[in-house]
This record gives sequence, C-alpha cells and structure tokens, in this order.
Amino acid sequence: MFRSSVYTKRRAVLHSQMKSGTALFIGNVDSPMNYPANAYHFRQDSDFLYFFGLDLQGFVGLMDFDTGKDWIFGNDFDIDDIIWMGPQPTVKELAAKCGVSNVAPMSKLEDIIKDTISKKRKIHFLPPYRAETKMTLGALLRENPCQMKTRASVDLIKAVVSMRSIKEEIEIAEIEKAVGIAFNMHTMAMRMCKPGTKEQEIFGAIEGIALSEGAGTAFPIILSINGQTLHNHSHDNILTKGKMMVTDAGAETNLHYSSDITRTTPVGGKFNQRQRDIYNVVLKANTESIKSAGPGMSNRDLHLNACKIIASGMKELGLMKGDINEAVELGAHALCMPHGIGHLMGLDVHDMEALGENYIGYNDEVKRSDQFGFAFLRFALPYKPGHVFTIEPGCYFIPQLIDQWKSEGKFRDFINYEKIEKWKDFGGVRIEDDILITEKGHKLLGKPIPKTVEEIESACS
Ligand code: GLY
Ligand code: MN
Repeated sequence: MFRSSVYTKRRAVLHSQMKSGTALFIGNVDSPMNYPANAYHFRQDSDFLYFFGLDLQGFVGLMDFDTGKDWIFGNDFDIDDIIWMGPQPTVKELAAKCGVSNVAPMSKLEDIIKDTISKKRKIHFLPPYRAETKMTLGALLRENPCQMKTRASVDLIKAVVSMRSIKEEIEIAEIEKAVGIAFNMHTMAMRMCKPGTKEQEIFGAIEGIALSEGAGTAFPIILSINGQTLHNHSHDNILTKGKMMVTDAGAETNLHYSSDITRTTPVGGKFNQRQRDIYNVVLKANTESIKSAGPGMSNRDLHLNACKIIASGMKELGLMKGDINEAVELGAHALCMPHGIGHLMGLDVHDMEALGENYIGYNDEVKRSDQFGFAFLRFALPYKPGHVFTIEPGCYFIPQLIDQWKSEGKFRDFINYEKIEKWKDFGGVRIEDDILITEKGHKLLGKPIPKTVEEIESACS
C-alpha cells in the first residue's frame, strides 16, 4: 500500500466535503468458488482500497463526519487461523498502516450502528455490488438487503467520484506500471499469433505475465479471431491465416491500478490488403483522437470525431456513402463502431462503474444519448487535468447486425449493403491506448506498445 499519509489525506478531503453523519465502507470478503474454503482470487473493494488501503478480507472502515474520527473494524486472528495461515498482524497494526488509530472488533460496529440509527443520524454508503456486502449492510441497518443499492448515498457517491476521477501522481505512476505489464502481455501475444496456435495457449501465456508481474489481469482477457464480438471470452479457436486476432487485455499492479490495451494482429504477422485498409482507418481514429485529447475538449466530442474518421474511412473503401457528418449524427456508423471511444480508468478498469456511470460521465447538463452505439459512451463530460482515459476506436463486421439492418432497410442512404455483404467474414479491429489528460493536453501512458502496421509486423517476426 501507499504510505499512511496518503490515506489520511484522502479521508480528510472526504470529511471536508461531507456535511454530517457517518460513512460505512465495507471491505470485500472471500467469495467461494465451489465450497467455502476454496475461494476465488481475492479482490478488495476499490473504494475501501482508496480510503483505507488494506488489501485483506473482512474489514469495515467508518468515517464519522460529525466527530471527525475514522475507525477500522475487524476481528483479530486466533491461534486456529494462525496454524493454517502463519503469523498475522493485529487489526491495530494494520489500521496504523492507513493512519487509523480507532480499532474495534465487528461486534462493536453493530453497537455503533444501532446507536447511530437510534439518534437518527445519517449513515452514508456506496452502492454495493456483491451479495455479501448487501447482506452485511442489510443486517447492520436492519433493512432489506435487496434494496441496499437504491438506498446508497448520492452525496457520498458524488464526493467519491469527484476525488477518484482526478488521479494523484502516485496513482499515475502505478497506472504506467500497469501499462508496462500490458506491454509484455501484448508483445508476447503478437509473437505467438501464428497459424495453428490455439487462442487458449496465448490467453494462458499472457494471463501468466499479468500474474507474475502484478496482481493479475484488470478484467477477463478478451482474445479472439472473432474480434467482431466485442467482449469475446471464448478462446477455443485455432488461429488460421487470413484472420485477425483482437487482444483486449490489461493488468493490475500489486496496488490494483489498471491498464487496458487492445491490439489487433494478423495471424502469421503480415497484414493482407483488406486487413491493412481497415486497420489503418482504426489507427487513424486512435492516433487523431489521442492527438486532440486535452482540456477544452470533451470525451463526447472525441467520440463523435472518431466515429467520423471511421465512417470517412468506410466511405473511401466504398462501404459507406453519402454525407458523413449526417451519417454520424443519425448513427449509421454504429453498424461498424457500436461502442464508445473510451472510459475512465484507475483502481477499476472501468473506473468507479459500480458507483453508477451516470454520476461519473454525465450530469444535469450533459445527458446520455439513447441512440444505438452512442448510448454506450460511458463518459461524455469535458476533460480535466488528472483524468485517465482509454482511447479505443474499433471497426467491426458483425454478420447478424448487418443482416438485421439490411433486412430492415436501415440507413440505406449511408450504407453500401451490397459491398459490406462481402466483408461479413472479416472479424473486427480495435486499437486501444491509455492516456492522462494534462494541463496542456495529454500524455500517452506507459511504454508505447507496437501499433502501426510496420511495428506490429516487426513485433510478430
Ligand atoms: N477492456 C474492455 C472494455 O473496456 O470494455
Ligand atoms: Mn477499455
């Protein structure tokens, strides 16, 4: 974890933003795979990590905004635990690492909450996303656990979002480390991208890198020659010449900061003409978007510009037609680019998504579009220095979507269905990098990963 003053300072900022009441931060517990003692890889809750830093199961943090006191609740290990787990620090020793001196066992938390409820003081908490957390909250507050998400505190959500959205230097350094791990994952995938190799072999090899250099992957690896399926989690194909492999993979550092990088590699390491054509359209959308990112611009503007670049490229290839600005305004490009240009990234790969996307990327003035494609944009607001974003344009040929739109006669003035029909076996291309918004513009985070046609071909060889 970071030094204790980092957590003390973050909590002090939250105390200054919240008016009164208390806030509960329920840390995660182990989640069983197939029986209670056989648990999934433990992942701490990101808000608990942000304010208290302890990367262990079974703790609760409490901030009392009226008294200014912070607490850590948890039970010390007994000799039975120590026999199986080895010597363990006490809760008091652990709490000192995040600058908290008030510690107590879980039973005391129940008494404190009872007292807080009886005094009608507000208890703030963030939307829970795990069943165990909902149960714990429901039991503590004596309310229906299924309603805990809707009972979450909007004031607390907004305060936490305002803090976590702007990254500190120590956080940016961690994210750069995570991109460094992704560099090794992606260049390994490029070297392995040969006809006859099974997707699963590459998936396993790069997951191994994430585990050997950090805390594992930041999200389940997407790796497929069927890259037209945006989040393809099946890895059972054998690579064949003529296909492209989409690898969307990032790592977490040991402190749980993420990277999220996508590269698309032709099987065998050499682009054919069709692959090069589509690849260069997406590459242009990626590089032009990165070039223009900075304060004064919004992620919404960037998204729309990237969509125009993709649509213009499609028009040059004869796959789209008509006025490109109009096509993008009406959403015709979404046949090939049905997702947003990118998202905030930090302790979560889709940063703070559990708090509610509309609190992060939208506000009273900027509302989410309901247009197909545009509706998936996770963040539409203006950029601020300290934001960390992914930039991930793509171009996909999804046979089922093409068939559906064609049969409905959708956007016939903009889409050349006759020609696009012949591209239904192409797959997809996505190119994703991670950037920091700075005072003057932006910074590409981490060691640059091979990206141009020439760089990818050379990395594969
Ligand atoms: N890396 C997967 C995503 O951004 O959805
Ligand atoms: Mn992403």
